[in-house]
Amino acid sequence: MVGTTSGAGSRRGERARVLFVDDLERSRELFARLLEGPAYAVETAASVVEACAAIERERPDVVVTDLRMPEVDGLEGLQRFRTLAPDVPVIVVTAFGSIETAVEAMRLGAFDYLSKPFDRDPMALVLRRAVDHRRLLQENQRLRAELAERGNRGGVVGRSDGVQRALALVERVAPTDYPVLIQGESGTGKDVFARLIHERSARAGRAFVSLNCSAIPEHLLESELFGHEKGAFSGAVTARPGFFSRADQGTLFLDEIGDMSVGLQPKLLRVLQNGEYYPVGARRPETCDVRLVCASNQDIPARVESGQFRQDLYYRINTIRIVLPPLRERVGDVGLLAHHFLAALRERSLPFPPPTELAPETLARLEAYTWPGNVRELAHVIDHCALIADGDVIEPEHLPPEVRSATDGGGRDLAAEAGAPQGFQDARRDFERQYFTRLLQETEGNVQRAAERAGVHRTTLYEKLSKLDIDPRS
Ligand SMILES: Nc1ncnc2c1ncn2[C@@H]1O[C@H](COP(=O)(O)OP(=O)(O)OP(=O)(O)O)[C@@H](O)[C@H]1O
Ligand SMILES: [Mg+2]
Repeated sequence: MVGTTSGAGSRRGERARVLFVDDLERSRELFARLLEGPAYAVETAASVVEACAAIERERPDVVVTDLRMPEVDGLEGLQRFRTLAPDVPVIVVTAFGSIETAVEAMRLGAFDYLSKPFDRDPMALVLRRAVDHRRLLQENQRLRAELAERGNRGGVVGRSDGVQRALALVERVAPTDYPVLIQGESGTGKDVFARLIHERSARAGRAFVSLNCSAIPEHLLESELFGHEKGAFSGAVTARPGFFSRADQGTLFLDEIGDMSVGLQPKLLRVLQNGEYYPVGARRPETCDVRLVCASNQDIPARVESGQFRQDLYYRINTIRIVLPPLRERVGDVGLLAHHFLAALRERSLPFPPPTELAPETLARLEAYTWPGNVRELAHVIDHCALIADGDVIEPEHLPPEVRSATDGGGRDLAAEAGAPQGFQDARRDFERQYFTRLLQETEGNVQRAAERAGVHRTTLYEKLSKLDIDPRS
């Protein structure tokens, strides 16, 4: 056999190694002459026993065996090969017209069968399918193994530098009481990391309370945060504690902190400085012991610059910053995350068995796509595929159209399209405008559905649209 050093099977682009088993020398010579070439390296064996030795020694990518052989016949051989190397597909060659034998061979785990005499092209086709199938299983197995081994820490999946760095930082800072700012686009895992920080801290047994600052109208946010006294404003029939009180001894997660109004910011600053706050309408301050984790998907320094965010507050919440890169900048995580979500589907009791494998081309498309909705969008895409695929394998045609049409570097490189390099803010604005316009076209202007698709809150989407001057009805 042509010497490849590793027994793990060939990779894309390398010659696939075929072991052909037949007692007739003429037949072996013919096979080698037909198939040996740039695609295949052929080794032959004259008996099942010889073939077993070759399989153990070399781990070919695929075995092709004749059925009628003296001593040990091909059906018995098929079983031995399958036991010896369950991951190596076996193609059997049957005498013309012996359909029962072919059926029996398939039942015993043959990958496929061809009847004699065979031509080059049908044989090459079956070989290609077998080799592709093996590579698919290997790639999926590799991803699953990696996921099990080190891909999944505290529910966070990812081997990319970005995620590993973020995880390492979490380990360091979680046990302290320092405020942490988590920055990342929508769907990059800010919630996941906020919870992880809480779980890895001494406060783990206490409350984890989260509040989205952009989802609550400005005039209500203060009483939501700090609570209010009875009669503090019309409608305040009874006194009510706020989020700081509920998070006492625990962790308070303030999402979209960048949207907090300038009027409220000094009050937040005060709690951070001395643990004191005034419920709305109260004369005396309350005290609390709260660890603050904030998240933002926008550029707070820009808001500081424009006077919408207090610099002193920014310094406070920004003591430790964890940046979660967008998914398109950590392509290596895509396969792991996809398998993570497939595994999660298996945990749910669905009325059908969900697929377990990604076709290599599917993975390539997933990795080429730009993921404007990041990890959340990937989770939705896997759900979508699981519903549509009707087998073990997710094929490219099961992908939603926008992902299916993603090609390496194709069509979506806005920076390149723009010609001259532009500032990040401009590029981002362009991208967002294009993304949201397309999203609204696809949902026919339905903002609620668009928000769900994008994985953002409806109010967040409305704000985005108004900032970008997009009218959802047009
Ligand atoms: N590294 C990861 N490993 C596993 N699952 C992840 C990871 N990152 C995100 N997810 C999953 O992706 C989805 C979105 O994550 P999350 O809600 O944390 O994003 P976010 O940054 O808070 O988004 P938003 O800005 O919209 O609030 C969730 O279902 C979450 O479980
Ligand atoms: Mg979130």
